[in-house]
Amino acid sequence: MQLDLATLRTRNLPRTLAFFEEMDERRLFLRPPTASRSKPSSAMKDKHMTPLSDSRAIVIGGTSGIGAALADALEMRGAEVVRASRATGLDLANGASLPGWFDAQGPFDHLVVTAGSQAPGGGFGALDLNAARAAFDVKFWGSARAAQAGAALIRPGGTITLTSGFLARRATPGSFTKTAMNAAIEATAKLLANELAPLRVNVVSPGLTDTEAYAAMPEDKRIAMLTGAAGRLPAGRVAQPQDVAAGYLFAIETPSVTGAVIDIDGGALIA
Ligand SMILES: NC(=O)c1ccc[n+]([C@@H]2O[C@H](COP(=O)([O-])OP(=O)(O)OC[C@H]3O[C@@H](n4cnc5c(N)ncnc54)[C@H](OP(=O)(O)O)[C@@H]3O)[C@@H](O)[C@H]2O)c1
Repeated sequence: MQLDLATLRTRNLPRTLAFFEEMDERRLFLRPPTASRSKPSSAMKDKHMTPLSDSRAIVIGGTSGIGAALADALEMRGAEVVRASRATGLDLANGASLPGWFDAQGPFDHLVVTAGSQAPGGGFGALDLNAARAAFDVKFWGSARAAQAGAALIRPGGTITLTSGFLARRATPGSFTKTAMNAAIEATAKLLANELAPLRVNVVSPGLTDTEAYAAMPEDKRIAMLTGAAGRLPAGRVAQPQDVAAGYLFAIETPSVTGAVIDIDGGALIA
């Protein structure tokens, strides 16, 4: 028998009636959206959309490796990019200079920090903790200082993307400095994503990536390291800087991504 609201009313079934009335109400929300409903309001549009072609990005570490590949990719999409590093006069180890440096840049949309590839390795027992601390000063404190000095200048809809590394979550003996430093960056980015919202804050975590960071190695050893790693990785390849740059673009261009760690490591964490 087909029950409709009129029948239920005449049969005095108040609870069933209430249920069907509620469902009838809800059907309103199940209807296909009308043209005017499906159109995002201009407030939503302003808050969430950051067209790269009109944007300005600062990439600290943008003169080499992953940062340079990202700066190229951003420029190809029409963004104006400031490539910063010691080579252009910005040293993250010199924290006192950062607020003035950012103020001189003026407003911008996206801050990316890739700087800081040097960190001492070796067993913890004999590790030079002063060298470990110096690496922390550049990569961890440098990222934190850049985020603090830059955040106020970032326009609505903007982002901060920091850089960690797969050793943050892969407990590999001899990697104390990189593990501690990168884990601290990942935890910090999640905290800042909450605290600085609606500004979005994310992290890209690269695995071994074929960049200038290994340029000082003898060529045969460098090739052997990269080939050996590629053979052990589920992806069967070591990342190129452009592969990792795609992670920052994803973080920048995807309005619902914040507090995320984007792993681009060839599967190093599951190998
Ligand atoms: N390549 C990998 O296998 C790998 C793996 C895991 C994680 N990562 C991480 O990914 C990031 C990028 O690595 P990469 O391989 O692209 O390194 P890279 O080619 O050596 O580039 C590092 C960049 O950081 C800048 N930099 C270094 N120290 C700085 C300082 N004190 N102040 C300002 N800028 C500084 C360098 O320029 P100047 O020398 O001019 O300052 C350069 O532009 C690093 O954070 C690294 O830890 C890399």
